[in-house]
Amino acid sequence: MAGSASTKEFRLGVLGSGEGSNFEAIVGACRDGAVPATVAVVLSDMKEAVILQRAREAKVACAHIEPGKFRTKLDESAEAAYIKALNDAEVDLVVLAGFMRILKGEFLRAFEGRVVNVHPSLLPAFPGLEAWKQALDHGVKMTGATVHFVDQGVDNGAIIEQEAVPVLGDDTPEILHERIHGAEHRIYPEAIAAIARGEIALRGRRTIKVLP
Ligand code: GAR
Repeated sequence: MAGSASTKEFRLGVLGSGEGSNFEAIVGACRDGAVPATVAVVLSDMKEAVILQRAREAKVACAHIEPGKFRTKLDESAEAAYIKALNDAEVDLVVLAGFMRILKGEFLRAFEGRVVNVHPSLLPAFPGLEAWKQALDHGVKMTGATVHFVDQGVDNGAIIEQEAVPVLGDDTPEILHERIHGAEHRIYPEAIAAIARGEIALRGRRTIKVLP
């Protein structure tokens, strides 16, 4: 599994398309010592993404890399460019933080078992886009946030951590998403810390905590 108990720096490559609030939580947790890792690079498919502004403000290396001709995934040359940038930054773990493109094939082979994602629902409920809105539309009383390894399926890989979040009577999509963000900002740094310490092992679809 990704992670090591050695003293070598554990390096994160964060990919995001939007606001970057999860990036902010992760870089903060790295800097205050809660996560034994460093954010080595931030990459975005969106030139004007707030996550890039936040990275520049936090003095973290960052770049916009064109995603290519497709709307929901990277084309072949973009995929190669993302892999190169992450390898150049000597990244141990790829952290998807609101990256709105599906990563497949070559990319997942390049970082096998070393890509994690945060999703705004209690998976396997509500995979895909705007999961907080799906939860409201469905009328569930409880939703949440999930951190999971990324595999070939969409929002499908082994689950590392989850936190439940209540859906309240007068929630709007924005208010519910904000409450879910709160959970994400707690469990994403925790999960990354556990991986960096070498405490997470995979048993089939299940992850278990082990002593490093
Ligand atoms: C987060 O809520 C994350 O779970 C979601 O995008 C938001 C990004 O927020 N990701 C997905 O829906 C991926 N399927 P952020 O840019 O403020 O971290």
